[in-house]
Amino acid sequence: MALSGKRILLVIGGGIAAYKSLDLIRRLRERGASVRCILTAGAQHFITPLAASAISGQRTHTDLFDREDEADIGHIRLARDADLVVVAPATANLMAKMAGGHADDLASTVLLATTLPILLAPAMNVRMWLHPATQRNLATLQADGIRTVGPNEGAMAEAETGPGRMAEPLEIVAAIESRFAPSGPLVGKHVVVTSGPTHEPIDPVRYIANRSSGKQGHAIARAAAAAGARVTLVSGPVDLADPAGVTTIHVESAREMLDAVETALPADIGIFAAAVADWRVANAGEQKIKKNNGALPNLALTENPDILATIARRNEGRPQLMIGFAAETENVIEHARQKLAKKGCDLIVANDVSTGTGVMGGDSNTVHLVSPAGVETWPTLSKTDVARKLIERLGQMMKGAGQ
Ligand code: C5P
Repeated sequence: MALSGKRILLVIGGGIAAYKSLDLIRRLRERGASVRCILTAGAQHFITPLAASAISGQRTHTDLFDREDEADIGHIRLARDADLVVVAPATANLMAKMAGGHADDLASTVLLATTLPILLAPAMNVRMWLHPATQRNLATLQADGIRTVGPNEGAMAEAETGPGRMAEPLEIVAAIESRFAPSGPLVGKHVVVTSGPTHEPIDPVRYIANRSSGKQGHAIARAAAAAGARVTLVSGPVDLADPAGVTTIHVESAREMLDAVETALPADIGIFAAAVADWRVANAGEQKIKKNNGALPNLALTENPDILATIARRNEGRPQLMIGFAAETENVIEHARQKLAKKGCDLIVANDVSTGTGVMGGDSNTVHLVSPAGVETWPTLSKTDVARKLIERLGQMMKGAGQ
């Protein structure tokens, strides 16, 4: 279903076209979206909150100062807990209030408080639509990044013709679908990202770990999804939320991570940002190791599989671009060059993680891109910006390779 899982906040303004909004709710739900409605006072002259609730299957909101509403969900949460705000019908008055930043009822307050994308379906008398004030407001709203669908030309309720008629529900649905349609340099590509540390068990309660937070890997997964890619994130144990719009697979150990990556393939791009433990305990037991009068446990280490090298050296099913990371504490670039060759990847993102840089667990990163073409050093950036820039670069590399 085209709108599966999408949450629409539908603001219904006070115009006769409000009756069509009930059909719009039904059409959106048929396509898998959930719809929550806000009715202005004007809208309630044309349709009732009960009708909107019955068709949407959710409580309808009308009053800014409703004690129950504020205790239950609150206008700020209403403005946040959705993927898209649709205003249909958007009356001349509602558009004027939005353009002027007014907040004197629930609908206008939510519209001012929201940072979500907004789609307007204007509907009003033709002279009101063509009035310079409305056209000025429209230009202001469009400059604010708000998109519109309609109005259409045609016969209107007051037996006049001209532009002003609200777009048909199916046209509004199409406009909503196109807002959600993926776009960006990685549309149609599958990107597999590893992130975070691995935990290698010593016994059922103890493990070997490292200081990786997963912030850089998770930011890369988010940036790849924002660039239109289908993203599978294989994450070690981290304290971060699963990124929205990304399939996240949780693993603990290096061997589990390798299995999950192999299951996620085929992919077009593999980005291996995880700090995988190099060794695991070969003699990890089923039972907790007990203290034994000062005798030290004998832990035997064995090498973990190198996930990046295993996948990059495949003859068949190797992603077209393989990106490794090199967290080093000395000779960063030299070690990165060696890793590029040893692991068989196309690009190494190298960084200095020595004590004092604050990279491990921190929010910013200074990276060097090491490839057969040479070395490029980026200024210190937030991990989010490193992720965006890296994804942009990978998009160019895919295009350069004629994909
Ligand atoms: O050899 P080193 O651990 O420094 O290599 C770092 C790069 O190799 C990272 O991209 C990391 O995700 C990957 N790696 C891996 N499997 C391992 C060790 C490292 O995929 N066992």
